[in-house]
Amino acid sequence: MFQPIGSPKAPVTVHFDGVPITACPGETVASCLLRNGITRFRTTPVSGAARMPFCMIGHCFECLVEIKGLGSQQACLTVVVEGMNIATQAGAARVAGVGHD
Ligand code: FES
Repeated sequence: MFQPIGSPKAPVTVHFDGVPITACPGETVASCLLRNGITRFRTTPVSGAARMPFCMIGHCFECLVEIKGLGSQQACLTVVVEGMNIATQAGAARVAGVGHD
């Protein structure tokens, strides 16, 4: 579906829900996940419906994921970093001191 353009660079590895996946340096988390066939980024707090990126420019907030343990991170605006831990966001974001598990 998505392929990088330009000259190839050494790939980096990130983890999504504990599974290592290959990312291109400089790409966003959203493009990395979509390119790897991942379309379930979060679930809604009320119905649990699966959501995925829509606008890819930071407006719709459908791409929210957990990055490095922090919830409600916009995957379409966050650039991948080697070793980054990304996770599906289930329902509302985690807030320090307030669990939802
Ligand atoms: S895809 Fe719309 S804000 Fe990220």
